[in-house]
Amino acid sequence: MIEEEHLVQTSSQKNNAKASATDQFSTSGFILAAIGSAVGLGNMWKFPYITGQYGGAAFFLLFFCCLLFVGLPILLAEMAIGRSGRGNAVSSFYALSQNKIWGKLGFLTVLTPFLILSFYAIVAGWTLHYATISLTGGLFNVPDYTEAFVGFASGYMPLFWQVVTMALTCFVVVKGISGGIEKFNKVLIPGLGIILIVLMIRSLTLPGAAQGVDFFLNPDFSKLGAESALVALGHAFFSLSLGMGAMLTYGAYVRPEQSLGKATLAIGAGDLLYAFIAGLIIFPTAFSYGIEPSQGAGLVFMALPAAFAAMPFGNLFGFLFFILLAIAALTSMVSLLEVPVAYAMNRWNVDRKKATILVTIAVFLLGVPSALAMGPLADFTIFGKNFFDFMDFITANIMLPLGGLIVTLFTGYAWKRVGEETGISGFWYNVWMFLLRYVAPIMVVLIFAHSLGLIQF
Ligand code: PFF
Repeated sequence: MIEEEHLVQTSSQKNNAKASATDQFSTSGFILAAIGSAVGLGNMWKFPYITGQYGGAAFFLLFFCCLLFVGLPILLAEMAIGRSGRGNAVSSFYALSQNKIWGKLGFLTVLTPFLILSFYAIVAGWTLHYATISLTGGLFNVPDYTEAFVGFASGYMPLFWQVVTMALTCFVVVKGISGGIEKFNKVLIPGLGIILIVLMIRSLTLPGAAQGVDFFLNPDFSKLGAESALVALGHAFFSLSLGMGAMLTYGAYVRPEQSLGKATLAIGAGDLLYAFIAGLIIFPTAFSYGIEPSQGAGLVFMALPAAFAAMPFGNLFGFLFFILLAIAALTSMVSLLEVPVAYAMNRWNVDRKKATILVTIAVFLLGVPSALAMGPLADFTIFGKNFFDFMDFITANIMLPLGGLIVTLFTGYAWKRVGEETGISGFWYNVWMFLLRYVAPIMVVLIFAHSLGLIQF
């Protein structure tokens, strides 16, 4: 793991850090990049199907509360650690606490995005494949969409798309913060909004759409329980990109005069709005074509293609839908890659280009067994799970809550000058600290215990 001397910067590393410190986000660029990180496959793919499984609108309300009371305080804490620490996820923890243990704990938040990116890139690749075959019509000439998906995902094609998505991500991150990540998000996030609105109008005007809207917006509280609360909480975490050093690393490139409180609200609102519109696309479409919305992870790849096939101009709408998913995934991938890249630049004192290329290759290699996990490597299992599911399980259920806990405990208890260094004071400081010290850690421990099967409902 990391050794002590790497927590203390050498003078050449300081120069490197200074050089990169001048590469900052503009005020709006930061908000868009952070929304780009938050809005991803979590919003467009996972949120609709878990909302479908856990009862529609009631789950949405629960998700909203989790976002507000647990997600946003942690989001603010992560950005504040990055901006005050002015470094990567390891050096910032160390700089603010002067305690090596926190630096070492911070390393976990560098490792998590590295692992997540390795399989997130695969799903992003599926979306690009589906966008392409929607356009060419290949998506619609099949007798069974489930079989078609399984046939694709269990072959070698996912490897090709993995190369494409990783190369695109690398290309953006190599260009740095203002010239790469900011520019990319400034074009794609508004673009994503336009595609969402076009698709929302299409789905709301389909025959029978009202049933889907009703399902999504009319709460049925009888469906709620402790389990759905924990799923909502876990998803609030994933959706806001928390516990993986991403918002912390982006925070290091925020200008000192930017208000982090306002940024937190804007990012939270953006994330919620995009998820809300995704729901207004998926549920009316599903209901209009008689698709069961609670069928889980296959909803997007196995069920919705049937709806596009039956729709007038289905090629175009199918393409727009899957390209929407791909864009959302790519803007999140960029933030995932930036975390280990920022760490590598500082840790090995290499320039951005070298660090980005090397980290991309390493992530790619780690992702190969995930790309092949449903096909050629299906028999290779760890604890009874194929490689893809195993990676997903340890990151989402173990590393992510741990990362969140580290951030809450650090900001709530270990970072002594948090008020002065963030400029947050008075009533809002007290609310923030209350949520960080008491509410968030308890909630995070509950998600953790539940996902490990230590508590059951
Ligand atoms: N927030 C992204 C989503 O909802 O898909 C996933 C994600 C991206 C998580 C980046 C963490 C991260 F650092």
